[in-house]
Amino acid sequence: MIVYFNGQLIPKEGVRISPDDRGFLFADGVYEVIRSYRGKLFKAEDHFRRLERSLRELRIEGLDVENLRDAAERLIRVNNLEDGDAALYIQITRGTAPRRHSFPDEKIPPTVYASASPLRSSRERLEHGVKIILVPDIRWARCDIKSVALLPNVLVSQQAKERDAGEAVFVRDGVITEGAHTNFCAVFDGQLMTHPRTNYILAGITREVVLTLCRELSIPFREFPVLASDLKEADELMILGTTTEIAPVIQVEDWQVGDGKPGPVTRKLQQAFREVTH
Ligand code: PDD
Repeated sequence: MIVYFNGQLIPKEGVRISPDDRGFLFADGVYEVIRSYRGKLFKAEDHFRRLERSLRELRIEGLDVENLRDAAERLIRVNNLEDGDAALYIQITRGTAPRRHSFPDEKIPPTVYASASPLRSSRERLEHGVKIILVPDIRWARCDIKSVALLPNVLVSQQAKERDAGEAVFVRDGVITEGAHTNFCAVFDGQLMTHPRTNYILAGITREVVLTLCRELSIPFREFPVLASDLKEADELMILGTTTEIAPVIQVEDWQVGDGKPGPVTRKLQQAFREVTH
């Protein structure tokens, strides 16, 4: 596999990252995941804009975004991923310096890594839906930054796996925020509701695409907190994300959503999403 590492395309085996890298020591870095459909990056501009915002929020400087953007396209080509679907992973850390919590005094270059791997949509998940579990939102209050510090997400994802669920969805002060790696929405009486864009969720690109599709398809929506205690009243639930796309939620913990089958709003959005991605 050919990857991008600090300005060059090289075999993955050739990547050397120091134990003094601040990503390793402090999770002092950010990432992005971009989907490519048949060789074309989907919503790349939005992902790069969010990446630049994450970097700004952490005050990580010195990234050559143009170079990275160019490398992203090349990674798809050199790894022969043009004919299928793929996921592009990008990670940037503050760089390498002796361990001290505050930023290094001298300007250091960030560590930049990107790779592309084949990724096929899970037909089973998209067709039949997934089970979710609800977990306390134990994350920090800057979930809008796509930071590599993902320990809470790792722990709840393992819980989900152990309980045969496809996603763990966070609840903060009684409100559903988002999933461990997806945004969440619910449909009540034909109206789609999803958590507003605040510091408690990641401003998902898929979420944004879904809201645009709602406008186009005249599906009413509201960016408004959904209470966990209201969830049983919902007609449909969905999780949204770059790797997940639009997945119907058919079970929450031990109860079934509606009749246990993906609903009409979900189906309409999935169909429209397929059209924009293909
Ligand atoms: N997940 N919320 C969290 C906490 C996420 O990690 C992600 C992305 C999303 C959805 O954002 P987007 O639609 O921009 O992917 C929401 C990774 C990238 C995934 O898709 O698995």
